[in-house]
Amino acid sequence: MKIRVNKKSYFRLDIDEMNGYTPGEQPKMLNLIKLNTNENPYPPSPKVIEAIRNFELNHLRLYPDPMCDSIRDVVAELHGVKRENVIAGNGSDDILTMAIRCFTDGERVAACFDPTYSLYNVLARMQGAKCIKIRLKRDFSLPANVVKKADGANLLLIARPNSPTGRSYPLKQVAKICEKFDGIVLIDEAYADFAGDNCADFVKCFDNVIISRTMSKSYSLAGIRFGYALASAKIIDGMMKVKDSYNVSMLTQAAVKAALQDREYLAETVAKILNTRKRLVKKLAALGFEIVESDANFVFAAPPDNDGKNFFDVLRDNQIVTRYFPGKTTGRYVRISIGTDEQINKLLEIAKKLYQPR
Ligand SMILES: Cc1ncc(COP(=O)(O)O)c(C=O)c1O
Repeated sequence: MKIRVNKKSYFRLDIDEMNGYTPGEQPKMLNLIKLNTNENPYPPSPKVIEAIRNFELNHLRLYPDPMCDSIRDVVAELHGVKRENVIAGNGSDDILTMAIRCFTDGERVAACFDPTYSLYNVLARMQGAKCIKIRLKRDFSLPANVVKKADGANLLLIARPNSPTGRSYPLKQVAKICEKFDGIVLIDEAYADFAGDNCADFVKCFDNVIISRTMSKSYSLAGIRFGYALASAKIIDGMMKVKDSYNVSMLTQAAVKAALQDREYLAETVAKILNTRKRLVKKLAALGFEIVESDANFVFAAPPDNDGKNFFDVLRDNQIVTRYFPGKTTGRYVRISIGTDEQINKLLEIAKKLYQPR
């Protein structure tokens, strides 16, 4: 048979022209200290392990509940809303995809801050939509006139706490934006369990707000892929239309239900991470690092010589993988996920060797 070689591209022009999203590296070497994608260093709740062990494998021949109703009920109770205010996703990235599908196209533009989670822009481009980038201030706080800067956009994506900076924005300021912005505001609360406050209750007063949450960080379930959104029944109804039919596997539904119900374990692991974060910040600051105030399970830290890339490279040479974001505003920093105390001690030893004044 003759091999057919296509000279022309059958791809949409904008897909051909765009760069895909680059996920954080998932190295295969086992002895690495992995502090690059903000996973939880602690195992999932023992109740999750039990639920997976007790899972009736025979049931895998059937499709899962496409609506995820039993989990929607647990989530609804947790947040004091109704089942109709909750939608489940295959990770919160799936929630973001649904929102982009619903609210953007060639005419309806998205908006987000810069820097922020880079997937927002990539998803918008996949949809053939433009994404307005609103530059944060030098200290990564909110600039003035956000609503004016986002003018014309139909969907404003706000990561609170933000990534890669870890910064939260004042609740009141975010509420004001939700009140004034003529479009949908999606508040991505992937890291909210590590923060002092959150915007979940906004869905009770604003009918243009979507809150998205993930089980990947605070619940130690990045591998299981689950996220959810809270919003008005009208918004959730619309998002249901665009989701993949069976977007959450049966095994995931069993595991997630168990995790959501183990509040005590969640509080314990979050407290451990916050303690380690506090210690890391204190020790790095003593070495002369500039650290962005973090409300998340990672810190964005600039070494005293402002050479973030060098610090990242030296850590990597010592089997510690962190994340480096090149660029004018971010290139001084390295993003460090909070690991166990032992892992963070190893990182601190290297930082000391590099930066402790002799
Ligand atoms: C701000 C933000 N939103 C969403 C996600 C995606 O989380 P998930 O694992 O639920 O897809 C991440 C992952 O790092 C994130 O940083």
